Amino acid sequence: MTIAIDVHLPADQAAAMEVDVREGLAATPKELSPKYFYDERGSRLFEDITELEEYYPTRRERQILEERSAEIVAAAGNPATLIELGSGSASKTRHLLDAMRDAGSLLTYVPVDISEEITRETASALVEEYPGLDVHGLVCDFEAHLERTPTTSEAGPRLIAFLGGTIGNLYPDERAAFLCRIASLLDVGDHLLLGTDLVKDTGRLELAYDDPAGVTAEFNKNVLSVLNRELGGDFDPDAFAHVARWDAVHEWIDIGLRSLSAQDVHLADLDLTVHFDAGELMRTEISTKFTRPRLEESYAGTGLAMAHWFIDPAEDYALSLARLA
Ligand code: TRP
Repeated sequence: MTIAIDVHLPADQAAAMEVDVREGLAATPKELSPKYFYDERGSRLFEDITELEEYYPTRRERQILEERSAEIVAAAGNPATLIELGSGSASKTRHLLDAMRDAGSLLTYVPVDISEEITRETASALVEEYPGLDVHGLVCDFEAHLERTPTTSEAGPRLIAFLGGTIGNLYPDERAAFLCRIASLLDVGDHLLLGTDLVKDTGRLELAYDDPAGVTAEFNKNVLSVLNRELGGDFDPDAFAHVARWDAVHEWIDIGLRSLSAQDVHLADLDLTVHFDAGELMRTEISTKFTRPRLEESYAGTGLAMAHWFIDPAEDYALSLARLA
C-alpha cells in the first residue's frame, strides 16, 4: 500500500480568477463560473443541499451505486484502477471500490480533485479501509489538467468515474471537448462511468434547484460573498434574488441571480465598477438534464460510445458506461 499525491495547481490562482470574473461580468448576459461556489461555506451549503428532500440527484446516484456496483464493475471488465474526477470525500465511490475488491481486481485508486486537503484526507482514509490499495492522488483542475491522469494500463482495465451530474454543468461544446479528452485517455478495455440527471417533471426539477427552505438560494448567493472576499467586492447578497428556471429548449435548469434594483457594484481588486439594471439576470450555472437518446448523441463524435446504462427504479438519474467507439 502506498500513497502519492501530485499537485498541479496554477502558480497564480488568484490571477486566473481575476481574468475569469472580469470576462464574465463584461459579457452580455453577465455570467459567473460555478467554480467559485465552493469555498468552505459553499461546500458546506452544497452538502446541506444534498440532504434536502427536494434535491434527489445525490440520493439517486448513491442508490444506483449501492445496488448495482457489482454489475457496473463486471460490465467495466473488472477494472484494476479507478480514476475519479472530482473525488472529494469519495463517499459514493466506496461502493465501486468494494465491488472491485470483491471481484479481486482492485489495485489502484486515483482521486482527482481541486482540494489538496480533502484529497490527502481521502487518500489516508482509503489506504486504511482497503488493505493493499495504492492511492495516487492528483490535485488539479481536471478541466485544465486531465492529461495528467495516469495513462498506462498494464495492470488491467481502468475505470474513469465522473459522478454527481457535473457533466451537466458544462455547455454542449465544453461537454463534447471534455468527452473527447476522456476518449484520448482511454485504451481498449477501459471505461468511463458518467453520472447524469434525467429530464423529468418541470415542477420537481425546479424545486430541486429552488427549495422552500432557501438553502439553494443561500448557496447561489454565496458566490457573491466569495467575490467580495477574494476580489474586494461590495456585492450586497440581499440585493439579488435566486432564480432557477427550466429551459425546455436546451433542456437545462438555468440558475442565476437577479438584481432587484438598478445598482453599481465595485470590485476593488479589478478596479472595476459593474452596473446592473433592475431585473437583470446574471447566470451562475446551467444544469443540463438528459434523456438516453440525448446522452447517446452527446457521446457521438467524441470517440466514445455508450455501452451500458444503469438507472434507478424511479428513473430519475442514470449512470452510463462508455468505451471507445
Ligand atoms: N452541480 C450541481 C447540480 O447541477 C450543483 C447545484 C445544485 C447548484 N444546486 C444548485 C448550482 C443551485 C447552483 C445553484 O445539480
